[in-house]
Amino acid sequence: MALHGRFVHYHHQKRRETLYMGSSAIGYTRYYICHSIDQSSETFTGETRVSRKNLAVFVSGGGSNFRAIHQDSRIHGDIAVVVTNAPSCGGAVYARDHDIPVLVYPASDRHPDGLSPEALATALTTQYSIDLVILAGYMKLIPDSIVQSFPRAMVNIHPGLLPSFGGKGLYGSRVHSAVISSGARVSGPTVHFVDEEYDTGPILAQSVVPVYPDDDPDTLAARVLKQEHILYPQCIAAICNDRVSWRDDGIPYIWKAL
Ligand code: GRF
Repeated sequence: MALHGRFVHYHHQKRRETLYMGSSAIGYTRYYICHSIDQSSETFTGETRVSRKNLAVFVSGGGSNFRAIHQDSRIHGDIAVVVTNAPSCGGAVYARDHDIPVLVYPASDRHPDGLSPEALATALTTQYSIDLVILAGYMKLIPDSIVQSFPRAMVNIHPGLLPSFGGKGLYGSRVHSAVISSGARVSGPTVHFVDEEYDTGPILAQSVVPVYPDDDPDTLAARVLKQEHILYPQCIAAICNDRVSWRDDGIPYIWKAL
């Protein structure tokens, strides 16, 4: 891989960065001189002035990843809106408790006042000026038109190590059952950018947990979920601070200041 250390000449503290891939920092180290990162409305990372990002989070369930992201002060962005197909789910309740607007999508017999794809796209792009869409356990398909409105700006977390154990029908405990049945000795969450297919978008980061011989889907899910709450906020913080670079072949990676 053609990743080499380099110096960015800046007049503050020298820092070492290591290519970050999940819970372990491996391999590639570079050095740069950077401004410190602060919590003001604008921050410097390396040579770039970064403004706070507007975030949209999509949820269908308990929303524990949404909460982990919302509570992480390192993230240089604000959750402007939550989108759900299940307005009484834990994630939507948490949003309302924190005065975050909740949109219902899609419209259905149960929720006839839900948005159309066009209305959702307009709300995200125009009304809320969303910079990054975060899928956090959202169980409905995202329309292609919305995926295409957020190129390199829509991410998902999957509870298995992609590209294995993903695709249509592999979600929730089905993922963990498939991992256990396969005899794989490791599992863990994958954060990836979203394309028009299920679980095939470019992988941003992963972390690894052991799979034990006596695991069942629940015990493995709990071990993976714990890592999700660490990994996903780290990824969102990196994206919001423009610490994601893209290889020429379309693979993204995170540089983490140590
Ligand atoms: C997580 O396991 C995530 O990997 C998957 O959906 C689940 C959402 O859990 N995409 P929560 O609603 O964030 O608790």
